[in-house]
This record gives sequence, structure tokens and C-alpha cells, in this order.
Amino acid sequence: MSEFRLTQISDTHLARRLPVLTENFHRVSEHISTTRPDLVVNSGDVGWDGPTSRADLEYARELHAALPVNCRYLPGNHDIGDNPTAVGAPPTQPATEKDRDAFVAVFGEDRWSFEAAGWHFIGLNSLIMNTGLPSEIEQMDWLTTQLSDAKGKPVALFLHKPLFLNTPSDPETPGTAIRFVPQPVRGHLVEIFGKIDLRLIASGHVHQRRDFTYGYTRHVWSPSAGFVIPDKMQEVIGIKETGLVEYRFAPDSVEVRHVRAPGQANVWLDELLHPNSKD
Ligand SMILES: [Fe+2]
Ligand SMILES: [Fe+2]
Repeated sequence: MSEFRLTQISDTHLARRLPVLTENFHRVSEHISTTRPDLVVNSGDVGWDGPTSRADLEYARELHAALPVNCRYLPGNHDIGDNPTAVGAPPTQPATEKDRDAFVAVFGEDRWSFEAAGWHFIGLNSLIMNTGLPSEIEQMDWLTTQLSDAKGKPVALFLHKPLFLNTPSDPETPGTAIRFVPQPVRGHLVEIFGKIDLRLIASGHVHQRRDFTYGYTRHVWSPSAGFVIPDKMQEVIGIKETGLVEYRFAPDSVEVRHVRAPGQANVWLDELLHPNSKD
């Protein structure tokens, strides 16, 4: 295959009790039905609250299964819990082996790799990083094998959390550490990725669209397919809008398109949580 078209959606946060988010997913589904990419990747926060409601994960799986193209999945913090950071308090809902197992039972995977159009694609579970869980150690061993299997091919990495804000050495602060892959794992990943031809890191989690290049690697932050977070709750870093990202991979190149599905609404988190509030 000389060309591979991949659509990234993220942070769908689906739950049967939140129909406004399902509506946005339907608009995205219609767009995908029209554009027919080779693959859809959901880069996490697939469901609204997996650790307390497995039904959210099952509902999200049902909606993705209705798409006319293959899908791959990665977990987000709202699917399996969050990871500890080197600074600040531990997460209120830490990632556990049990919640990871539930995600794998529903979606069939929490990490993956494949090759297409001369590229090596890797999807990582970023929420077990820094936990010390057996699955974290297994994933690191698996990643080492994956990177040697890439054999010099360009690599595209997908994961829920961005690796960093602007540079690998950005300091971790208690207020923002949960936004990125935490230290010390981030430093280890930067080191091993520095030895391969890593061209693209595609992430979600922040609910803001962003696209920048550091060194030889393009960092693409997918917006949420479902909702945006108001400025009073989260600072502006990129573009606050709902949407998705389309990629066209060819041997040695990738084209990135930032798009919104027709009819996809900018649902604001405060209105979602408090629909009758006027402020
Ligand atoms: Fe999210
Ligand atoms: Fe997230």
C-alpha cells in the first residue's frame, strides 16, 4: 500500500446519559462514513468514566463498532484512571491493573503496532506509565522490541497524553504535570525515541488543537471530538474547538489536515455539567 489514510479522533467521553456528546460522535461518524479512511484511531478518553462505569466503555465500543472502517483504541485517564507524577499529589483515581483489564476486555487492546505505507505505527498506553504496575513493565519490554522491529522506518507514535508542552526538559509543576507524560518516564522515552526515526507524535487529552515541530518530530494534539474546556477552567495553549485530525501517510512523508466534521458543535464542559446554569 503506497498511501495510508488515518483519521484520529480523541476524547469522545461517551456515555449513554450524555446525549449531546453522542450527537457530536454521530457527526464525526457521518464524516468518517463519507471520507472512508483506512483506519480510525481513538487516542483515549473514549468513555466518560470507565473506572466507575464499565457501561460507558461498552456504550462507546458499540458506537465505534457501527463505523464502516476499522478502529484502534488507546485508553485515557477517564477510561482506566490516571498516572502518578514526580510532583504534586497522587491522582484521585489512579490507574489500576483491574481498570486496564476492563478496557482491554471491552476494546481488545490498550497498545498496538502495525506497518503501512512504509511507516511503523505504535500506540502506547500512557496512563500506566510511572505506576510500577506489571503491565507498565510489559509495555516497556514490548516497546523495546517494537523499536528494533522498525528497522529504520519512520515511526508514528500515538498516545493519550502529549509527551511535553514545548521541550523535553519542560519542568513539571504540580498544576500541569498531569497534562503530559510524567517524569521520569518521559525522559526515558525521549532517550530511546532519540535513537529511532520518530517523525510524528499524535496525542489527545488536552482538548485543544495544536501542531508544532520539535527537532525532527511533529507533535499533533487532536482536539476532543466531544467538548471543549472553558478558559476559567483551563488556560489557552492551542485552539479550543471540537474536531478531528486526518493523516495521509506515504513512504517518507505525512500530510496532516485539521478538520471539523460538518455539524460538530462546540460543547463547553461547564454547560455540559450544569446545563441550567446561566454563568
Ligand atoms: Fe479528555
Ligand atoms: Fe484525558
